[in-house]
Amino acid sequence: MATLGIETSCDETACAVVEKRKILSNIVSSSVPLHAKYGGVVPEIASRFHIEYINRVTKKALRAAGKTLGDIDLVAVTGAPGLPGCLLTGVSFARALSYSRNIDLININHLHAHIYANFLCKDAALIRFPFIGCVVSGGHTNIFICKSFRDFDIIGRSRDDAMGEAFDKVAKILGIGYPGGPKIERYAKRFRRGTPIKFPRAYLDKGSYDFSLSGVKTAVLYHVKKKKMNRKEIARIAMSFQEAVFDVLTERIKRAAKKFGIKSVLLGGGVISNMRLREKLKCACDKSEVQIFYPPPVLCVDNAAMVAGLGEALNKKWR
Ligand code: KG4
Ligand code: ZN
Repeated sequence: MATLGIETSCDETACAVVEKRKILSNIVSSSVPLHAKYGGVVPEIASRFHIEYINRVTKKALRAAGKTLGDIDLVAVTGAPGLPGCLLTGVSFARALSYSRNIDLININHLHAHIYANFLCKDAALIRFPFIGCVVSGGHTNIFICKSFRDFDIIGRSRDDAMGEAFDKVAKILGIGYPGGPKIERYAKRFRRGTPIKFPRAYLDKGSYDFSLSGVKTAVLYHVKKKKMNRKEIARIAMSFQEAVFDVLTERIKRAAKKFGIKSVLLGGGVISNMRLREKLKCACDKSEVQIFYPPPVLCVDNAAMVAGLGEALNKKWR
């Protein structure tokens, strides 16, 4: 009953084997270094990377799991959302595998898989349905109410930039490199003394769970144009930017949990690796007895174990 997961929606070529919620292997080959000089993902480069690496990543995942294709009962592949050229590589590869070996194939939503990653972690038994699922990555900032693995109801999304994208763009403005998230987090930690900058918090219309990150990004740009830059000022901007965007995210989750009577919040996506965000969410939710779940960093970023895991959970025949 082993499931082979395939993930190629953006800049990671990933393959994993999962069996009864146990991760037997989880191989990720990333094209991130190739995009660094452009300050963001170049779709054409990412697609070509998948074409080049998909075979060897799959072989490596099978070998690491101690399995052959003959042991695989289901192929789960990310079908959407993602960059079309990138998705096409993974989906075509998975279809060919399924057709040639007569293995069942299941199409997986990448965002749902990010949230599902929490069920592959040790505290999974504590998760209570319905729960809030929140994906914060380079491509998405979405909040869902999840009643089952088939029922993800979206209540909030970014109206412009995704949060990770905003981190990457602000890092580019500050000239501190790509990917921007980890760099901004590191600079923010260095800010000890001084007055934070009051960057705008876009709370939008009353009752909304949506996000808008373009205003704060522009505010950073104007601030940088006015000020003389040095390491201390970069740290001040990084910390102030981080607080502004995380304040809004924390408010959204806290309010949604209250409104929908939720006791579990499941997080996913690259930005969730940020320790300050985890700390803020935990602090906000502890007070209302809501439990926060987040996967370890290897399952926060794009990976195929989350795709295989959700595929296994959705495969009716095995229930
Ligand atoms: O989920 P992910 O690996 O890829 C997708 O976008 O699907 O997320 C990558 C994003 C990048 O924008 C990166 O800057 C951001 O996650 N990121 C972070 C941190 N680590 C990665 N953002 C804030 N703080 C971090 N520590
Ligand atoms: Zn992702």
